[in-house]
Amino acid sequence: MNIEEMARFCKKTGMVYPSGEIYGSLSGFWDYGPRGVEIKKAIKDAFWRFFVSKRDDIFGLDGAIITHPKTWYASGHIENFVDPVVVCKRCRAEYRLDHFIEEQLKVNVEGKTLKELIGLINEGRVVCERCKSEEFEKPEVFNLMFKTHIGVKESSNSEVYLRPETAQNIFINFKNVFEVARKKLPLGIAQIGKAFRNEISPRNFLFRCREFEQMEIEYFIHPNDENKCFYLNEVDMDREVIIFTAEDQINMEKPFIGKWRDIFSIIKDEWHGYWLYKTMEFLVLLGIDEKKLRLRQHLPEELSHYSKETWDIEYEFDFGWKEIVGIANRGDYDLRQQMKYSDKDLSVYDEYLKAKIVPYVIEPSFGLDRIFMAVLDSAYSLREGKAVLKLKPFLSPIRVAVFPLVKKDGLDEKAREVYLLLTQHIERVFYDDSGSIGKRYARMDEIGTPYCVTIDYQTLEDDSVTIRFRDTAEQERIGIKDLVDRIEELLESGSI
Ligand code: ATP
Ligand code: GLY
Repeated sequence: MNIEEMARFCKKTGMVYPSGEIYGSLSGFWDYGPRGVEIKKAIKDAFWRFFVSKRDDIFGLDGAIITHPKTWYASGHIENFVDPVVVCKRCRAEYRLDHFIEEQLKVNVEGKTLKELIGLINEGRVVCERCKSEEFEKPEVFNLMFKTHIGVKESSNSEVYLRPETAQNIFINFKNVFEVARKKLPLGIAQIGKAFRNEISPRNFLFRCREFEQMEIEYFIHPNDENKCFYLNEVDMDREVIIFTAEDQINMEKPFIGKWRDIFSIIKDEWHGYWLYKTMEFLVLLGIDEKKLRLRQHLPEELSHYSKETWDIEYEFDFGWKEIVGIANRGDYDLRQQMKYSDKDLSVYDEYLKAKIVPYVIEPSFGLDRIFMAVLDSAYSLREGKAVLKLKPFLSPIRVAVFPLVKKDGLDEKAREVYLLLTQHIERVFYDDSGSIGKRYARMDEIGTPYCVTIDYQTLEDDSVTIRFRDTAEQERIGIKDLVDRIEELLESGSI
């Protein structure tokens, strides 16, 4: 699916709508509809089960979207969270300068300073995409954080920010959580929530929005445990993975298919390697096509201000390989900065060393909306020209649909009985008796319903129904008495 097709498909099937569409919509904002909201929630629930509920070393948090503004001075976002922008003199269209130069001049500008970018734009011929003018204002840097005000009177003292990442809530609460967890390091804190960035040119459907959702983990590790990951037995070192190292990017080499042991021979910290592996494992369990996932190491000049080393997990969309999760080694930068600005002690007492230590942090940062797109893209297929969304059953907005073959002769009453029976045991069951049976199957295939139960004339004779399988369109006949167990068994397989 190309990105325009995906946006059209999502609108038609009730997954995602442009926000404020009746007023002409607002660029970079999207509303999830009834089908999309179920898939998104199922991804979040799976994340929580996989990384929080089923582990004893990671705890949850749900922090405020607006928090104390000093947080953002300490984190470095006020100073560093900026993008260069250029504005067309004639029509006032705004472009992110680095992307604009890359697209128009076909050069790689990763790590270039504003001055160097200005040099490039002055040398080459660039035209406004909207009005074709060649005249632009002098480029400037622009902070991506949305500002708002607290209280009645707006002044610089009342200024606050909508969080651009969920991570900082975690750092400022580290000590609170550590104390109630009554655990030793390593200890992780996970959070799912909205983040906001005033992106200069939102594009590619949900890929670059101004309001989006993150699922982040900050995993705090004792400095003495650097390179001593206790969970390496969970890593299949012989599993294949596409790798694009910083060195290969510098030498203009291509990515290669390697093994996980190759990653562990390159990466500085083995806890970092472990979190890359767990992240990849989770994405594949969501049904994302492993052949379309790769690990790309950041170039030194590309690293965020807090990062010692970062690897992105990229997905191959039709518009190229793009980051869907970033996994950074943030060192102890954030805790130390928040300690410095708040004058509060966020260190941990080590009984053994009889000293206070500041843990370092590995951070897997998942972009939920980008993962949603990768899940849809991997699941989308066509059968006889019609869309079939081969979602993992635990992600499907409807898990089971119940149909009477026709709406007469008592079949609809019997189908209602079966529907009520299923709803007592299974969530997201749907009843439909309108239109031809073929059209009803097609509608369910399109939104990824894995199983359709049909009540036909034989049902009235022997109390049996058919289960139709979305991925093969084949059917199985089964007695109603065994139906709940069979559907539960089918739904259970492959769920996280
Ligand atoms: P990009 O280079 O594509 O702008 P980024 O490096 O700014 O991404 P991070 O700051 O690492 O992204 O953010 C962590 C995760 O949050 C990303 O992997 C991505 O999935 C998600 N994310 C970041 N910005 C956006 C956005 N504007 N819209 C949707 N998701 C986003
Ligand atoms: N927390 C990492 C990021 O959002 O950039």
